[in-house]
Parts: sequence; C-alpha cells; structure tokens
Amino acid sequence: MLLLFASFVLLATGTAVAAEPTGFGELDSDDFDSHSKCANCHAIIRSQWQGSMHAYAYTDPLYQAELQMAGEGTGGQTDEFCSRCHTPIGVMSGEVPPIDGSMASDVALEGVQCDFCHTVPEGAVGDGAFVSTPGEIKWGPHDDAPSAAHESEFNEFYTDAEYCGMCHNVNSPFNGLPLDDTYTSWADSQYAEDEVACQDCHMSPGITQFEANPGRSASSAPKRDHISLHDIVGANSFMLGELSDGQYGEKAVERLQQAAKLEVSAPEEAISGETVMFDVSITNSGAGHKLPTGITEVRQMWLAVSVTDAEGKELYRSGQLNSEGSIEDAVIYHTVLADADGQITDKLWEAESIVSDNRILPKETAVESHSFVMPEDAVDPILVEAKLLYRSASQDMVDELFGEGTYDVPVIDMSEAYGSINGEADVPSNGTPGFTGLLLVISLIAAVGIYRTKK
Ligand code: HEC
Ligand code: HEC
Ligand code: HEC
Ligand code: HEC
Ligand code: HEC
Repeated sequence: MLLLFASFVLLATGTAVAAEPTGFGELDSDDFDSHSKCANCHAIIRSQWQGSMHAYAYTDPLYQAELQMAGEGTGGQTDEFCSRCHTPIGVMSGEVPPIDGSMASDVALEGVQCDFCHTVPEGAVGDGAFVSTPGEIKWGPHDDAPSAAHESEFNEFYTDAEYCGMCHNVNSPFNGLPLDDTYTSWADSQYAEDEVACQDCHMSPGITQFEANPGRSASSAPKRDHISLHDIVGANSFMLGELSDGQYGEKAVERLQQAAKLEVSAPEEAISGETVMFDVSITNSGAGHKLPTGITEVRQMWLAVSVTDAEGKELYRSGQLNSEGSIEDAVIYHTVLADADGQITDKLWEAESIVSDNRILPKETAVESHSFVMPEDAVDPILVEAKLLYRSASQDMVDELFGEGTYDVPVIDMSEAYGSINGEADVPSNGTPGFTGLLLVISLIAAVGIYRTKK
C-alpha cells in the first residue's frame, strides 16, 4: 500500500522514472538484424567492428573458458549475469543460458553488435542495465541522418560515457564488489570534468584525445567532418591477434604505446661500493581511466629494469621473465582479489574483497625506487634501462586454462626510458622508432642550448 502510494507520488510529481532494464527472455532474437544486413550500406563501419573485441564478446575463448568455470564454481548462478554483457541478444531472447550455446541463434553469437547497440534508447551505468527496443528506429549521434532502410534518430546518450558505462562497470552479483571500475575511474577523473568521453579516445583516431575522421558512414550518405570509428580498440592485442590472424592486434599495441610516459632519475655519479638508488616514474598520460583497466586481476603491467656497465655486464635486474614466463621481482600494476577465506583468487565470482589496487589513476604518476651496489670492477659509464611492459594475462593462467603450448601471450613494450651514471652511456639502438625520434628532438634542442635538466 505504502509502496503503491510512493510510486504514485513519484509519477504525479513528474519525476522521470527510468525504464527497467530489459530482462531475460523478454524479446525474440528475430527482432534483431545481423551485422551483415547493415553492411549492405555501412560496409566500412562493419569491417571496423569486425576488428573489435565487441564482435568476439561471446566467442572469445578466454571469456568462454572463464564463463564455464564460473558456472561450475557457482552451480550456474553466474550464467545469466556473465552472459548479459557478452551476448545481450542471447540473454534478452532467453537463448543464453544455457551457456554451452546450444540454443543460441546466429545473431546472439554476434556478441555486442550493430543492431543491439543502436536500439538502446536509455540505460544506467553498471552490470548491463540497458533498455532494448529493437525495431525501425536506429539511434545515433545525428539529427539529420535519414536512411531508406531505417528511421534515424538523434539520442545524446550515444555521445556520453554513460552509454559505455552500462557494460564497462562490473560489480559482483553476490556482494557488489567492484570488479571492473573503468567507468567509475573515468567519472572521478579530470577527463570527465573536461567532458572527454570514452568515444573521443576509443572511436576517433586520436587515441588519447578527440581527432576528427572525415568521411561517409554509408555508401549513399553525405560527407561529414567526423565519422566515429567502430574498431573501438582497447589493450587486448592477445585475443585480437589470435582471433583475427594478427590483423587487428597491432592497433591495441599502438594504443598501449600512447598510454604512459616513463622517466628514469639516477644520480650523475656513484663510486664503487656505494649503494646506488634510482627512481623510475610511470605517468598515466594517455588513458582516461586507471592504467591498466578492465579485468585487471588478470591483466599485468610492470617495469623491467636493468643496469649494465660499459662492457655489457649486468649490475642489476628486475621484472624480467623467467623460462616459465613468470615475472621476477617486480611490482605488478593490477588488482588483487581475495575469496571468503582471505585466499588470493583471480576468479571474479569468488571475490569477497580487494586486497590491493595499485593501478595508476588518470594523469597521475607512480614512482618505483630501485637500488644496487656499485661493484669495484664496473666499467663506466653505467646504463640504466627501464621498460614498461604489459600482457593481457599471465602465461601461467592461460596455460592452466588451455594447456601448455596453445597460446603464447604476447608481452607488449609500452614505453621505455634510460638514465646514465658516471658519464653518458650509449642507448641501445634497438629502441623503438618513437624513442629515436625523441632522442633526435632532444639533441636538436640541446644543440640550440635550451635543454638544461642536469643540476
Ligand atoms: C540501405 C542502406 C542502409 C542499411 C541497410 C542500413 N543503413 Fe543505417 N544509415 C544509412 C544511411 C544512408 C544513413 C545516413 C548517414 C548520414 O546521413 O550520415 C544511415 C544512418 C545510420 C545511423 C545514424 C543515425 C543517427 O541519427 O545518427 C545509424 C546508427 C545506423 N544507420 C545504423 C544502422 C544499423 C544498425 C543497420 C543494420 C541493422 C543499418 N543502419 C542499415 C543507410 C543504411
Ligand atoms: C558498442 C556499441 C556499438 C556497436 C557494436 C556499434 N555501434 Fe555504431 N555507434 C555507437 C556509438 C556510441 C556511436 C556514436 C559515437 C559518437 O560519435 O559519439 C555510433 C555511431 C554510428 C553511426 C554514425 C556514424 C557517424 O559518425 O556519422 C553509424 C552509421 C553506426 N554507428 C552504425 C553501426 C553499424 C553498422 C554497426 C555494426 C557494424 C555499429 N554501428 C556497431 C555504438 C555502437
Ligand atoms: C552491451 C555491453 C557493452 C557496451 C554498451 C559497450 N561495451 Fe565495450 N565491451 C563489452 C564487452 C563484453 C567487451 C569484452 C569482450 C571480450 O573481451 O571478450 C568489450 C570490449 C571493449 C573494448 C576492448 C577491450 C580490450 O580488452 O581491448 C573496448 C576498448 C571497449 N569495449 C570500449 C567500449 C566503448 C568506448 C563503449 C561505448 C561507446 C562500449 N565499449 C560499449 C561490452 C560493451
Ligand atoms: C583520454 C583517452 C581515453 C579515454 C577518455 C578513455 N580511454 Fe579507455 N583506454 C585508453 C588507452 C590509452 C588505453 C590503453 C591502456 C589501458 O589499457 O588502460 C585504454 C584502454 C581501455 C580498455 C582496455 C582494457 C583491457 O583490459 O584491455 C577498455 C575496456 C577501455 N579503455 C574502455 C574505456 C571506457 C569505457 C571509457 C569511458 C568510461 C574509456 N575507456 C575512456 C584511452 C582512453
Ligand atoms: C556489466 C557487463 C559485464 C558482465 C556482467 C561481465 N562482463 Fe566480462 N567483460 C565485460 C567488459 C566490458 C569486458 C572488457 C574489459 C576488458 O577487456 O578488460 C569484459 C571482459 C571479460 C574477459 C576478458 C576477455 C579477454 O579476452 O581478455 C573475461 C574473461 C570476462 N569478461 C569474463 C566474464 C565472466 C566470467 C563474467 C561473469 C562472472 C563476466 N565476464 C561478466 C563486461 C562484463
């Protein structure tokens, strides 16, 4: 009675009542068109989408393996929850679960696809709280984009971060623990303040800021100043590389290489027997959320640091991979989860608490201190090298899931920096072109005498 009265007041006072997210089995998969239909006119957008993880959201073998494990571990309690963002059509049509995919139609297997994405009039942030109204009207960023094939309507939601936030914030269905806080960490950052949305970096060529991509969105459409890109690249060069025969993985590498800046600060001089301390700082200069983000109990970012003398003798190392592919003596930037017994777990569905989260906030800097003892026989000058590395999952985890030898998880060089002690050490020539370019710039500046960082 009281409840009824309360909702009556809400309606009567005209407060907007958000529609309920569309639930399991409420729609029919036939309500949705396949991407191949859209491709008749939107061919370029379709081919971009085929290079995105959205296209593989359901078939992704890493997802499938974790989905099965979650189902087994919880007696099926996660089946619908996990599937909601990875095959929204599957869930809303009541075809998934079962999670073995035996009931799933072709359009459900298309993962996060065109017609699903363009028929969401509204939704709320987190856990796939989307409202779905498949049909004639395709919503998008324009109020002047008519088409013979469908109605086109402008909806501001499509240009907002909240649209992406519907799925890019995941909370545990058991205890509400934040398991993926990509949207939240964006919303708390300067990027949100400056109105730089996910779309600006992920749907434009700019990578770390908006950059226009002039063109046409359909064969018969007018030319526009900007057409949003649909490859919506993240950091997953591993799965994109595997699933697209390497074709699309490179784009994720490019993105990772623009995410962070490194700096080495080492003392100018050091004597034999001295404990030499030096710092390496990592700045999240390009990601509009924590670095790294996503399912970061699985993702790994770390520094490989080495110190060598002029004859190539190694004086110090940390963060290298051993023969089994494990990271040795390094800080790993990610989240660590624990289960109900306080045991560390990388299983999302068992997580009861967050033990640590040392990821780097947008525009912030993490500083690592390293030290070594300068040996008697070290030959000057001494080179300090730091490399920021990333991989989508540990080799151990992937071997455990798929068996050894199935997948080699690539390790991506995100960024590097160098320092010298007791003179100017030669920087290795196999540095990235970007770095050589930077050196050239620095030497040009040095030549005109402006470059003065040494105290
Ligand atoms: C017969 C060709 C054709 C087909 C098939 C087609 N479209 Fe379009 N669509 C167009 C044209 C033309 C425009 C107008 C583009 C412009 O003005 O820039 C358009 C515009 C759009 C827009 C922009 C709407 C806005 O207001 O911003 C969206 C979104 C869209 N289409 C989605 C789809 C989806 C999803 C499919 C498949 C289910 C599809 N289209 C199938 C031709 C087509
Ligand atoms: C993850 C959801 C998602 C998927 C999948 C998706 N789109 Fe979009 N699409 C968007 C959003 C969001 C925008 C508007 C972005 C912006 O410009 O701010 C957009 C923009 C568009 C536009 C307008 C382009 C322009 O800039 O004029 C068209 C046309 C379109 N999409 C068609 C498609 C087609 C066809 C597919 C499948 C091949 C597809 N979309 C898949 C979310 C999606
Ligand atoms: C219906 C839910 C849904 C919506 C809406 C959605 N995504 Fe996604 N997105 C996913 C899922 C699920 C994956 C992961 C697929 C996988 O890796 O198996 C993903 C993957 C991605 C990736 C690649 C991640 C990687 O590891 O490289 C990026 C980047 C991304 N989405 C950005 C966006 C942006 C930007 C928007 C808004 C324009 C958006 N997404 C809207 C569900 C969604
Ligand atoms: C200022 C540019 C920028 C903005 C804004 C931004 N991103 Fe990113 N994003 C990046 C960069 C650079 C990376 C690669 C480094 C990383 O993984 O964090 C990335 C990576 C990702 C990934 C890959 C994670 C993985 O596990 O592979 C996802 C997913 C993602 N972004 C989603 C989003 C969503 C959703 C938003 C909005 C709430 C957003 N991004 C806003 C630049 C941006
Ligand atoms: C609220 C939406 C949502 C729900 C619910 C969800 N996911 Fe995801 N999932 C995503 C998004 C978005 C990404 C992409 C972020 C990234 O790449 O790190 C993702 C990525 C993944 C990945 C990484 C795939 C890869 O190739 O690296 C795995 C594995 C995964 N999810 C498993 C699960 C499991 C298991 C569940 C259920 C316990 C689940 N997801 C529930 C949205 C969701």
